[in-house]
Amino acid sequence: MLTCFIIIFVILFCGFYFAKTSKEMPKNWYELKTELRYQYIGLVGLIHDFTYRSRDRVALYKQPGRVAVITGGNRGIGLRIVEKLLACDITVIMGVREPASAEAAVTSVVDLTSSGGELICEPLDIGDLTSVKKFAEKVKARYNKVDLLINNAGIMFAPFKLTADGFESHIATNYLGHFLLTHLLLPELKAAGEAGKNARIVNISSCVNLIGRINYNDINGLKHYYPGTAYSQSKLAQILATRHLQTRLDAQSAHVQVNAVHPGIVDTDLFEHSATTYVPFVKKLLFKNPEQGSRTVVLAAIDPKLEGKGGTYLSNGGLGQMHSDAKDPAKCEKLFKFSCELLKIEDFGNGKI
Ligand SMILES: NC(=O)c1ccc[n+]([C@@H]2O[C@H](COP(=O)([O-])OP(=O)(O)OC[C@H]3O[C@@H](n4cnc5c(N)ncnc54)[C@H](OP(=O)(O)O)[C@@H]3O)[C@@H](O)[C@H]2O)c1
Repeated sequence: MLTCFIIIFVILFCGFYFAKTSKEMPKNWYELKTELRYQYIGLVGLIHDFTYRSRDRVALYKQPGRVAVITGGNRGIGLRIVEKLLACDITVIMGVREPASAEAAVTSVVDLTSSGGELICEPLDIGDLTSVKKFAEKVKARYNKVDLLINNAGIMFAPFKLTADGFESHIATNYLGHFLLTHLLLPELKAAGEAGKNARIVNISSCVNLIGRINYNDINGLKHYYPGTAYSQSKLAQILATRHLQTRLDAQSAHVQVNAVHPGIVDTDLFEHSATTYVPFVKKLLFKNPEQGSRTVVLAAIDPKLEGKGGTYLSNGGLGQMHSDAKDPAKCEKLFKFSCELLKIEDFGNGKI
């Protein structure tokens, strides 16, 4: 009996230890609670990925002449998104920190001569508002229409850091930079969209939106910073903004739709700060690979069956479960207005700062 108890305890402890968001042990009740909530959501996510694996498909088709902008894309899920877009003959503009190595990464998996689309790599640090503005200007100078905007770049469970603009790095990188980029490129997206063929924005969020909370009193987590809390806050923010933006676009009768996506639990470098790095074989076994992680994102970007169906949160090729706050239009609007205030945007979507 005692042996049985000890074995169960050791298994549960190892499960907890190696699934932690951090390599350190939780230091107080709040951190332990956050870890346990993450592990519950992670387990539910893995079961969802397994259960709906046959639904998680995207049909690629040729779309020459279309232009997509993606943040990141040099590795992980983004690289596989770029591969699929180029297979559709879509021209892809990548906003990346190191354009030369990003181009090399893409050409290592894609034969560019076989694509009718062009690959353009421009410098972008999405966590730096000045860099976002410069990137948007370059895109605007080259194209007056953008068909797809895929807000992919992200960081997870990083130690506390403020960006040059004074924002905590998760909220800056995962959310605010993309919010600003969307505002700046919206005129080009509207110009590309037409009746029956909306331009599309895809915000890559996460299932951990379910345990997120927007801390309006301390958005940067200065009073108590925990990386898992900062990540889930940024991922919830993406969904709230997605929902309110679609409401605004509908009111303007704009031919643009915006969706949020959970790509699945995917084996990428995103987990670099997590204790899961100690057990890479477990990740290989249980997680999706980056190609599988790219499918629902590309589905949201190009699937004709999703035409006119904006404002949703997708996971494994279907609707996903989102935070109750995301179902409350007033809460979505509150975050949207708060974001405009933080970024000093007076008229969202006019493309100007
Ligand atoms: N993997 C998962 O299980 C999972 C689950 C849910 C949601 N997601 C979301 O999926 C998206 C892609 O994640 P991933 O798993 O592919 O992660 P990844 O392999 O770590 O790739 C992250 C990408 O974001 C870029 N990036 C990070 N900070 C940036 C910055 N300041 N400026 C420009 N680019 C920056 C990286 O570029 P550098 O090479 O320059 O760093 C890289 O291209 C993220 O938004 C993530 O939150 C992932």
